[in-house]
Amino acid sequence: MNTVPASAISVIDALTAHVALLDGDGLIVAVNEAWRRFSDDNGSRLPCYGIGSNYVEMLERLATASIDDSSGSSDDQRIAGAVAAGIRSVLAGHSPKFQMEYPCHAPWEQRWFLLTVTPFPSGSNIRIVVSHENITQLKAAEEQAREQGIRLAKSFSSMIEAIALAIEKRDPYTAGHQRQVAALATEIGRIMQLGEEQLFGLHLGATIHDIGKISIPAEILNRPGTLSQPEYAIIRCHCEIGHEILRGIEFPWPIADMVLQHHERLDGSGYPNGLKGDAICLEARIIAVADVFDAIISHRPYRPGRHLNEALRELREGRGKIYDADVIDAGLSFFADVDSEWHRRHRIFQ
Ligand SMILES: [Fe+2]
Repeated sequence: MNTVPASAISVIDALTAHVALLDGDGLIVAVNEAWRRFSDDNGSRLPCYGIGSNYVEMLERLATASIDDSSGSSDDQRIAGAVAAGIRSVLAGHSPKFQMEYPCHAPWEQRWFLLTVTPFPSGSNIRIVVSHENITQLKAAEEQAREQGIRLAKSFSSMIEAIALAIEKRDPYTAGHQRQVAALATEIGRIMQLGEEQLFGLHLGATIHDIGKISIPAEILNRPGTLSQPEYAIIRCHCEIGHEILRGIEFPWPIADMVLQHHERLDGSGYPNGLKGDAICLEARIIAVADVFDAIISHRPYRPGRHLNEALRELREGRGKIYDADVIDAGLSFFADVDSEWHRRHRIFQ
């Protein structure tokens, strides 16, 4: 049996993780106190806690044994195979490190471990350190945070739905438009590969992007014909009014900014603040494109919707000038696909 430096043993004995030191062939040269304790507590049948056995070969045997011949499950076999391959990769110098989380449930509790395989930098025969760290508490905290996140997302969603419903009661056209814009904006965001969380926030923001119109008289909102300058000025106020309504709510997404900025344009020609380029948040740049597209193709009480091609032409012409180029590229790939499920559902091509 190879010798292990006493300093290495005292270091690994101080660790709470279960640690084994392996030589270049995968043979267990030494284990720490935590490894021994875990083996005793779990009734391991390995002689000498595995010292002198080839750890990698043991795992490979477990991975390939038929389930009837082993006491494990197919999950155990998959894990054993992955760990053996990870150790071999570090031993061969193909990977600097191997890590893997895995379940190792006991009859009395659900347990999770983090396996870490690292090279051992010493002049001795030891080549790698294999450590199994109990991360059950960490996993439980993660799960709790995830569940709390879901609950929070549900309440945000219900809050937004309630606001959307309030708008719908007063102005069904705006409500329908917001729903369409939310669906379009989310599709564009998905094509742009936004993360699920950002997509969720984008959907919420788009669902109430015109909330400020709640304070605008319906006669002005849906009046046919050209608006007078003062009437147009009143309509333009809806971004700031919406922002005012929402800014006190602490959303984890920039919902109030999405509402404030959805009529801003890349070249600074938009309103209310004439913001340019990246000063406009990405979600507002996406909502702007979905908003214009839906506004062009939708029927209104005072005018019929225009043809899909007209909407596409307007977006193409504004690409990189007034609309974000990446958003337009994503939008065009989606809007122009008239065979898509969305088009079939909404029958927007006349
Ligand atoms: Fe608007």
